[in-house]
Amino acid sequence: MAPGGLRNGAGWRAVMVHNRRMQWFRPELADLPSYVAGKRPRNADSVKLSSNEVPFPPTPAVAAALVAAVDHGGALNRYPDMSCAQLTAALAAYEDWDPAGIVVGNGSTALIEKFLQAVVTPGGEVVSPWRSFEAYPIATIAAGGRFIGVPLRADGTHDLEGMAAALTENTRAILLCSPNNPTGTTIPHAEVADFLARVPARIPVLLDEAYIHFAPAVGESQASRAVVQNGKELARHYPNLVVARTFSKAFALAGLRLGYLLTSAAMAEPLRRIATPFGVNRLAQVAGQAALTEAPTVLERAAQLARARDELAAQLAEADWHTPTSYANFLWIDAAELARHGVTAARFEDACMDAGVLVRVLGEGVRISVAEPEGSARVLAAVRALE
Ligand SMILES: Cc1ncc(COP(=O)(O)O)c(C=O)c1O
Repeated sequence: MAPGGLRNGAGWRAVMVHNRRMQWFRPELADLPSYVAGKRPRNADSVKLSSNEVPFPPTPAVAAALVAAVDHGGALNRYPDMSCAQLTAALAAYEDWDPAGIVVGNGSTALIEKFLQAVVTPGGEVVSPWRSFEAYPIATIAAGGRFIGVPLRADGTHDLEGMAAALTENTRAILLCSPNNPTGTTIPHAEVADFLARVPARIPVLLDEAYIHFAPAVGESQASRAVVQNGKELARHYPNLVVARTFSKAFALAGLRLGYLLTSAAMAEPLRRIATPFGVNRLAQVAGQAALTEAPTVLERAAQLARARDELAAQLAEADWHTPTSYANFLWIDAAELARHGVTAARFEDACMDAGVLVRVLGEGVRISVAEPEGSARVLAAVRALE
């Protein structure tokens, strides 16, 4: 039988054409997993809970700044400030971080790609939790590296022991994701600190905090330290640590593509050198600065979603569907939980689609973003329909 399950002549021809075209590319690209976007809705009023977006419009200052930027001609015929100087200064003030250690990019995914391109040598290993953000294996392979996915523990948390054991002479980078996509779990501050102390200083570590605003007090209180790391505090001590943050989630600017790294000046400088020239567009820079002036509103909205998340988790638990404790804006139903109910991830997704809500199948599990209240109500309806 032909590769890909194709039996007929047309199928064979398609495979040969495909194989010939793949010769244009580096051989490892043949194994590249695709980034699978969420499914399209069956009807127009479906609620989209498949991409971890927030349901809110931009905050008022962002909308006003964008309108003003465009109203005055927007200088859109000109390239934007390549160094993102004003936004970097605003981030430095907001994050209390040395501007020399800030790298702004066209979304944090692009920054993760650039980071890996910068540090991975051909065939070099990137140790990462798995399952985690889908972009990690793709970005690793695209950077010429080997993705070493260390399975999460049964409760959906990082297996830092396992990750430490996976380090070799050939390790070029480590990825950490907290809260982790798709499980929502965090890493206690003390555990990350212990782990970093064991990592050889020659290995750069990227800690992805895309969802940190949905975690309690961003790891700063005594109680929250027990459950969530304070990446910034750690990055002040470890120059090989890079904290990645984004405007796409709590800041509600996914459509504009804006993210940033907080790290040491020594790490940031080469990363800035390989940045895509003018990669961060003018409107994104304007919007990012405006969004920072309304951070309290952003954090209040994030807290509101965190409450909605906890409520949905409790309601699902009442219906006998259990999810790992999430500190992000989504919940994860893992393979074991689906199996306990005798349903596949595809069947669960289907029931949700019938109830008018889009969720995301990732491997054997299902991730549900927490956004519009109507979406959560429909998820509960879908779960009841599965009984
Ligand atoms: C863990 C994680 N990191 C980064 C991102 C991407 O953020 P951005 O929109 O800034 O590229 C996502 C988006 O889903 C994510 O889940």
